[in-house]
Amino acid sequence: MSEVQESSYKTEALIAEDINAYLEKHQHKSMLRFITCGSVDDGKSTLIGRLLYDSKMIFEDQLAALESDSKRHGTQGEQIDFALLVDGLAAEREQGITIDVAYRFFATEKRKFIVADTPGHEQYTRNMVTGASTADLAVILIDARKGVLTQTRRHSYLAHLIGIRQIVLAVNKMDLIGYDQAKYEAIVEEYRKFADSIGIKGFTPMPISGFKGDNITTKSENTPWYQGPTLMAYLESVELDVTADQAKPFRLPVQWVNRPNLDFRGFSGQVASGVVRPGDAIRVLPSGKTSTVTRIVTLDGDLEQAVAGQSVTLCFADEIDCSRGDVITLADAPVQVADQFEATIVWMADEALTPGRAYWLKLATQTVSVSVHAPKYQVNVNTMEHMAAKTLELNAIGVANIATDRPIPFEAYERNRTLGGFILIDKMSNATVAAGMIHFALRRSQNVHWQALDISRDVHASLKNQKPAVLWFTGFSGAGKSTIANLVEKKLVRMNRHTFLLDGDNVRHGLNKDLGFTQADRIENIRRVGEVAKLMTDAGLIVLTAFISPFRSEREMVRKMMQPGEFVEIFIDTKLEEAEKRDVKGLYKKARSGELKNFTGIDSPYEPPENPEIHIDTAKLTPEQAADLIIERLIP
Ligand code: ADX
Repeated sequence: MSEVQESSYKTEALIAEDINAYLEKHQHKSMLRFITCGSVDDGKSTLIGRLLYDSKMIFEDQLAALESDSKRHGTQGEQIDFALLVDGLAAEREQGITIDVAYRFFATEKRKFIVADTPGHEQYTRNMVTGASTADLAVILIDARKGVLTQTRRHSYLAHLIGIRQIVLAVNKMDLIGYDQAKYEAIVEEYRKFADSIGIKGFTPMPISGFKGDNITTKSENTPWYQGPTLMAYLESVELDVTADQAKPFRLPVQWVNRPNLDFRGFSGQVASGVVRPGDAIRVLPSGKTSTVTRIVTLDGDLEQAVAGQSVTLCFADEIDCSRGDVITLADAPVQVADQFEATIVWMADEALTPGRAYWLKLATQTVSVSVHAPKYQVNVNTMEHMAAKTLELNAIGVANIATDRPIPFEAYERNRTLGGFILIDKMSNATVAAGMIHFALRRSQNVHWQALDISRDVHASLKNQKPAVLWFTGFSGAGKSTIANLVEKKLVRMNRHTFLLDGDNVRHGLNKDLGFTQADRIENIRRVGEVAKLMTDAGLIVLTAFISPFRSEREMVRKMMQPGEFVEIFIDTKLEEAEKRDVKGLYKKARSGELKNFTGIDSPYEPPENPEIHIDTAKLTPEQAADLIIERLIP
């Protein structure tokens, strides 16, 4: 009887004897999360089935489904048929296009396990990244008859990229090559060469047969030359990430501030790495403020220490500023703070990356606005080659610089998955569009400091005796933006206001003459104009801008750059047909004839404002009336 079988009989006895004692024991077992990589052909379903079957600890609903299946198939007895179990898993997998990641639970005497089972094809990079993102270990399955394949390389690359430290190379179907040691060793050697080349530091090879059960839970007599552990024994004893994380420096990303009354103020979150004790000197990032830990509070009482993986509330000796998103570290081992990074990005949305556009970036407990530069390159996941890329499409992996709108505490992903891993969220749809891993902060972000100036924006504004503002005109080409903005400016000047008009056609002759009309160029156009407008408001001016500015995202981005209330969006609402009929510059005609590409309204989109501060319907108002209305709204 195998060790595992024996232990599962003991388990059954224990359950019968004392269910509470059983549950208690179970609860304190450690948990290993792992991912299996390979395709159905490699015997993935068979292997997972074998692990579930041999551990006899299948999740209840899986059990119920299988039992009803076995009744339907007329299978006898209490024992679930192994073949049937595997059939069930394989069938699920084949319909798998809709199943992104299937998580299965099982347990042995020593440990609990969650195995993420993801489809293996190239187009499912996104799924594998999702499944691997929380895994301690990856089982890379190889069909012993076929050896190292393209998909073996892809899976290994992704597992390594996503920061999985433990890799098992399971050379499966050994029975079909007659348990040939030389063939096995040749496969391991070939894999070792590849693993070295992509920076995988070590892996654990083993010869197995999921179908026959060789070296899964019992040492196989068919491989007397193999001295290593069985797969199950290895899974039961391998070091968990949380254990490794405990040896790293202390980091706790703050999830929330706990202040039930005036006497208590604590900072709650899950310890990402390291250990902390009362009396430790700590530092809060990004502010850099320091204090000392007075208490470590949990629902079950105060602790003498908190370690990686635990959720706790820390109390400090001093009333220092600390809020959600901040990171608490030991005072003498802080994390870095920066706002520009190089990162690997895995694109997971149907709509491709738009370089320059602002997305939400979520890293640990902080959410900030970020823009992604055009990728430096894209990685071919089958050959590891670097390829030039302007954007990243669904399932693409690339390396790009990113810039957050404010400095954030972080660590390189290599060192800390929690503080170096992030997701990107589309600001309009709220969908997760990418996962990313920080490599390092760009030097320039650390060496360019904000210079504090003595003459503040308030001084500039009060000298001019006005409140700065940005009057942002948006609408189709030929809508009348420039004409109306021009009239508004004249009226403001007559009222002794200090103004400046930035006009699309003019700015594109100078500052932005390197930009065209692709989506990326228009985004960059608006970003620069936004920055210039911001400088001008700092100088105390009322800035008028006349740009088509067709995308909501970028208009929102500029709005956020300004002080609250400073940005006034003015929608010059002229219907496309009307603008086209006027065709002052003859551009619509060119666009219709195909002579001019990417023309707004023709073959490039315009996203009208949803809630503009001022809405001008040019069908109802003359330019003069529109200008009066705008002045009235600004200066009631
Ligand atoms: S934006 O989309 O990037 O905001 P912007 O306002 O700077 O555009 O420039 C628009 C002006 O450029 C138009 O008024 C028109 O005179 C000219 N133009 C030339 N090509 C195009 C084009 N493909 N689409 C829109 N406008 C164009």
